[in-house]
Amino acid sequence: MTNQPKKIILDCDPGHDDAIAMLLAHGNPNIELLAVTTVVGNQTLEKVTRNALSVARIANITHIPFAAGAVRPLVRNVEIAPDIHGDSGLDGPVLPEPAIQLDSRHAIDLIIDTIMAHPPKTITLVPTGGLTNIAMAARKEPKIVERVKEVVLMGGGYHVGNWSAVAEFNIKIDPEAAHIVFNEKWPVTMVGLDLTHQALATPEVIEKISAIKTKPATFVLEMLEFFGKMYKQAQGFTYPPVHDPCAVAYVINPDLIKTRRVPVDIELTGTLTLGMTVADFRFPVDETCHTQVATKLDHAGFWDLIVDALQRIGEVNV
Ligand code: BDR
Ligand code: CA
Repeated sequence: MTNQPKKIILDCDPGHDDAIAMLLAHGNPNIELLAVTTVVGNQTLEKVTRNALSVARIANITHIPFAAGAVRPLVRNVEIAPDIHGDSGLDGPVLPEPAIQLDSRHAIDLIIDTIMAHPPKTITLVPTGGLTNIAMAARKEPKIVERVKEVVLMGGGYHVGNWSAVAEFNIKIDPEAAHIVFNEKWPVTMVGLDLTHQALATPEVIEKISAIKTKPATFVLEMLEFFGKMYKQAQGFTYPPVHDPCAVAYVINPDLIKTRRVPVDIELTGTLTLGMTVADFRFPVDETCHTQVATKLDHAGFWDLIVDALQRIGEVNV
């Protein structure tokens, strides 16, 4: 029996780790990347959208729609992360001119159209930025909530924050959107900082990617070099945590990531805790619990997937 590739929509804000998530999704044979949508986050919408199209050129992704989404969070003012991702949102490598045009639809319409055009429970949403587009899509077409298979998102953290003492960037920049996404009754897997801080790009990882010697692999190395420098400077990491591809890796092979089913809700009013993903570990859960958190990563297995995806992408003439 052959396994059908899993269909995903990647909603992202590239972003170094978003770019690697895109390359992993494109290069892995167990994933069918149906569309890429962008959302304000690491940089302005204009910048992250251009970055997404440049990454598409790097990996020769030409056959799927890319659409731009929200220019700002639902309620809050825009917050960006140049301390980690630089002025372009993807500083480090030279970014090639995009070769494909954006889809004319707004990201939320592309998300809705794609989900509604496919059979129920066949599409997984993989958000790796703020949750503005996903929340707006769920409000515009509530039918998508029971139609998607699951939401596997990078965001949050049950014991750790990075944009405040207790809140993670993707959740903190649009907590109201996160509140909508975590409270809709679709299955949500939170691949948060507790997990992604295990996905460190160690010297062994860099060595394996260096051995590939293609333009997409060199692009990844240049991204990781800049990302590593910024993570050391801003947050004191020896090696950078490469967050976003962890969500894609979970879709590819859930055995690489241990999870625990717990209720999770989003703090919207705390003066010190805004955007905290509050996970309640106190009680055994029943079947109504539709959220789970990622806890433990198979580091070697995860990076093997990235190396394998880059090998399969092969050389691309940019
Ligand atoms: C998340 O924030 C962004 O800077 C990264 O791309 C990742 O999605 C980590 O907190
Ligand atoms: Ca991101």
